[in-house]
Amino acid sequence: MDAAPLLERLFLFDAVEDSRPVTGITGNIPKWLRGSYYVNGPSRFERAGQRMKHWLDGDGMVCTMRFSDEGARFTTRFVQTQKLRDEEAAGRFLYREFGTSFAGDQLRRRVMLEPPVNVSVYSWAGKLLAFGEQCLPIELDPYTLETRGVYDFNGNVNEASPFAAHAKVDPATDNLLNFGISFSATEPMLNVYEFAPSGELLRRRRHPLQFQHAVHDFGFTDKSTVFYLSPLHMDFGRFVTENTSVMESLVWAPEKGARILVAPRVAKGPAFSVEVEPRYSLHMINCFEDETTLTVDVLEMDRAIYGEYQTIPDLFTDPPACRPVRYVIDLESKSIRNRIAMSFELCPDFPAIDPQHAGNSCDDFWMLAMGAFGQPGRKFFDRVVHGSWKSASVCDQWIAPAGQYLGGEPVFIPDPGKGEEGVVIVQHHIPAEDRAEILLFQSHNLAAGPLATLPLGYLIHPGFHSSFHFD
Ligand SMILES: [Fe+2]
Repeated sequence: MDAAPLLERLFLFDAVEDSRPVTGITGNIPKWLRGSYYVNGPSRFERAGQRMKHWLDGDGMVCTMRFSDEGARFTTRFVQTQKLRDEEAAGRFLYREFGTSFAGDQLRRRVMLEPPVNVSVYSWAGKLLAFGEQCLPIELDPYTLETRGVYDFNGNVNEASPFAAHAKVDPATDNLLNFGISFSATEPMLNVYEFAPSGELLRRRRHPLQFQHAVHDFGFTDKSTVFYLSPLHMDFGRFVTENTSVMESLVWAPEKGARILVAPRVAKGPAFSVEVEPRYSLHMINCFEDETTLTVDVLEMDRAIYGEYQTIPDLFTDPPACRPVRYVIDLESKSIRNRIAMSFELCPDFPAIDPQHAGNSCDDFWMLAMGAFGQPGRKFFDRVVHGSWKSASVCDQWIAPAGQYLGGEPVFIPDPGKGEEGVVIVQHHIPAEDRAEILLFQSHNLAAGPLATLPLGYLIHPGFHSSFHFD
């Protein structure tokens, strides 16, 4: 069975760097939309006859669609990482990656991956930063995407600092928050950082963990940082001593339990945690709190998802059920007051909200989902959906034609004149024609179909996380 025909064409081609005006646009691009859409994603899986195994293994490539009075311009370039430079020079893969290990593979300083920097890209404090897992971001030119170099926040963090790929910008302060896990077998530690736009490290908090939790994302409010600690544990000792990939070093241990950890964002006090059922959350949607409750909106899966990101190009052969869940935590009793699960389980992922509301009350979110969930065979995202906590349901969606796919976090761009409404952007992949498009939708009427279609004329790889920066 194959529920994703031609999916291999989205992963197994040599992406070419490019920059050109977009022609043949259909529909209407709103006049207020002036700025740059960015998306980062893994974009090289083969070299010298060797194929990387896992979606997270590919070299990061950033794409941007810039909307200006002159029209739309599409630019795409690889992030010039140490890994890419070394492997281009050698003409073959050299480094062990998340899901791929091989005889003679190399690590950075023999203890960590040489990262492909392929997860996310954010504009912050006048800089465009591409992020990968467990490494410092790489600064890019915001227009040409040319790599400028590793950004270390004015020397406030270094290459050994644990640093995750899901940095968050607080719209209230423009501060950038991030976290990193130190995978010590005896003293695993959660590190939480907050930087001022100047790059100054305002604070770094350390919270001991019971287990070596593999954590990909987090949430924040004005008072707290929030982490969903799933029973997916990283056996770091095995990774280092047995030459296994990260994927092979991850252990699913539901008997060890799961919890939501809530840490004070500013104060120096200890964190507390509340027990939840042993499920998995790759991505958080948003968090907010008042005097008595903390609300934590997540995409919650029945088990870990990373096994479904392999083997390229046959992904998602048996993905776990996943649905949006809202936890309401009582801050006085430090217990869960309510858990609301939406009855939408088409393997949704890559959730996005209006970034102006990050850390504050927010009902609306957008994400990708796959209609073939539950069917045998490989599958991929084919719909963009709008969920709302007002109705605790998915209230709107657009489905790509059969054999066509969607990629990249559906970024929401607020219309300055329209309150809660705006535009949502996703990648549209058409493998039968070896081409892709960028689609713009009205945020609150996805079902009406694309507001504008921007053809690229060639394929791009499905992206992970997206962002938008207004001019
Ligand atoms: Fe992510």
